[in-house]
Amino acid sequence: MNFLILVSASISLFLAILIASLHLLHPTYFLPWNKLQNSSIELVADLIIKNGVIYTSDESLPFAQSMAVANGRVLRIGNHSFVQEVAGYGTQVLDLEGKVVVPGFIDSHVHFISGGLQMMQVQLRGVNEKEEVIRKIKDAVQSTKPGSWILGGGWNNDQWGGDLPTAYWIDDITPNNPVWLSRMDGHMGWANSVALSLAGITNLTNNPRGGTIMRTADGEPTGLLIDSAMTLVVSQIPERSIDDRREALQRASNLALTKGVTTVVDMGRYFPGVSSDLSWEDFTDVYLWTNAMSKMKVRVCLFFPMETWKRFADLVNKMGHALSQWVYFGGVKAFADGSLGSGSALFYEPFQDEPDNYGLQVTEPDVLLNMTLESDLSGLQVAIHAIGDRANDLILDLHSSIASTNGMRDRRFRIEHAQHLAPGTPSRFGKEGVIASVQPDHLLDDANSAGKKLGDDRAERESYLFKSLLDSNALVAFGSDWPVADINPLSGIKTAVRRRPPTWKDAWIPLECVSLEDAIKAYTISAARASFIDNDLGSLSIGKQADFVILSTDSWNDFAEAASASIEATYVSGMKAYP
Ligand SMILES: *[C@@H]1O[C@H](CO)[C@@H](O)[C@H](O)[C@H]1NC(C)=O
Ligand SMILES: *[C@@H]1O[C@H](CO)[C@@H](O)[C@H](O)[C@H]1NC(C)=O
Ligand SMILES: *[C@@H]1O[C@H](CO)[C@@H](O)[C@H](O)[C@H]1NC(C)=O
Ligand SMILES: *[C@@H]1O[C@H](CO)[C@@H](O)[C@H](O)[C@H]1NC(C)=O
Repeated sequence: MNFLILVSASISLFLAILIASLHLLHPTYFLPWNKLQNSSIELVADLIIKNGVIYTSDESLPFAQSMAVANGRVLRIGNHSFVQEVAGYGTQVLDLEGKVVVPGFIDSHVHFISGGLQMMQVQLRGVNEKEEVIRKIKDAVQSTKPGSWILGGGWNNDQWGGDLPTAYWIDDITPNNPVWLSRMDGHMGWANSVALSLAGITNLTNNPRGGTIMRTADGEPTGLLIDSAMTLVVSQIPERSIDDRREALQRASNLALTKGVTTVVDMGRYFPGVSSDLSWEDFTDVYLWTNAMSKMKVRVCLFFPMETWKRFADLVNKMGHALSQWVYFGGVKAFADGSLGSGSALFYEPFQDEPDNYGLQVTEPDVLLNMTLESDLSGLQVAIHAIGDRANDLILDLHSSIASTNGMRDRRFRIEHAQHLAPGTPSRFGKEGVIASVQPDHLLDDANSAGKKLGDDRAERESYLFKSLLDSNALVAFGSDWPVADINPLSGIKTAVRRRPPTWKDAWIPLECVSLEDAIKAYTISAARASFIDNDLGSLSIGKQADFVILSTDSWNDFAEAASASIEATYVSGMKAYP
């Protein structure tokens, strides 16, 4: 009996190995894709999708009816009869019944592991009443052991009338737990008194450079910490377990797929005041592991903190620009300033509601110049966060000086957010070849508060100038900044096309609305170019990965009119990944 089991097990093993090696021996296996297209080998499609309105993001053929996929890539795209020629035995056929298909969305700016971890914590996004915030924290106390940290974030004081929260709000319900809740923009955090005392923050603690400890008129810390002052508390929080962080990636990926996102550009777990080590720990503990276990579901392009440029340059030298078809190496990221909501974005004129506050330059200019020069000399792509008008001009100047010192090359220098631009600045992006990596959905929140912060004139003149950027021929890439805003390209596209916050009747700055096609491109092919991944991704072109999304609508005109649709299915490498 045992003998028989052994024999049958051996036979199965032998067959499995045989099948696996036959796959390896198939002549197409060793051929790079560009050769394949012209080789004499006849490829048969694994999948054909037909009878749809396929928008390709490829200017040489913007629309098609049908597409064939082989080995996870686009084999043919065009009319039905042309695509049908590569059908064969075993080709799966999917009738789209007229539905619109677009390339898989590329979200150009997320904090993917942070977002996944936040899905596992107190979630305060969208909460618009102080009482509701307190109730959620009370609930968290119930399920947390005394002494353990209660973590979470996503709160936005503008949603409950503007009052900034204080330790006092929650001290009586959290006597035995330190609490740390970050603001939706990640540039401000709210601690209770237990957390303040663990961090050693008292009346006598000085503001650290690049940060502020908010205080009462008497000089007592209120519990709110801005930008680098957040480190004081954050450095006390024990790191999340490896298992939690791996779980966070899975949750984040599953969420992304439901929204049609097939690739994210991960800016890391990096805010001013947060240790740059975290992004590297996530890389080794989470991404390397998940990739090795074949558990990646969404493609990621990784950016690392610029102060670690040397480590990243070594990695790229050793490994090239991709670890696999799932993990690409992007570049390095630094910060010029803070955020609008936290009053730390850097402007020429002071904040309307704080006449002495021009914002913060969060990285020392000489340090920033030195790191950027070194990164660029090592051939790395550089992305710098800049929100205020002055911060954007400073970074454009920095780019010019890098280009003149290190010489011309295809460096695809990125400014992240490019949110408020002085007159004349949008045209510099186009002329100087600097990429604007922007997040349309942030304007939904800012439309209501920017006037108060900047004055109505400046807010109207300078905010989210997507059309001006496109008109200057700048490469504009869209993203969400998740978990700062929802990961949801269809929402971002609608926002960029209509610029209408909920409850508004008209657009905010209507001249800056963009077309549906421009918005989709910014979320696909332009996003791919902005991360040097356009050889593989970003459009439904022959040889590229067959990442695509089927939308609920069956009319391009209706889609263009309403700028809205929902996701029916998401495919990665020609395989259904959602639902
Ligand atoms: C394939 O062949 C065509 C025509 O012979 C040629 O123009 C094209 O450059 C080739 N493409 C590649 C990727 O080799
Ligand atoms: C279908 O596409 C092929 C290849 O692009 C083209 O040669 C052919 O004329 C097209 N047929 C029709 C009916 O449009
Ligand atoms: C801090 O200042 C407040 C208000 O002036 C005062 O009540 C409190 O005793 C001070 N705490 C310390 C530790 O000095
Ligand atoms: C950057 O700073 C380091 C250390 O001070 C120095 O050795 C290096 O030459 C600087 N690099 C550039 C490009 O200025």
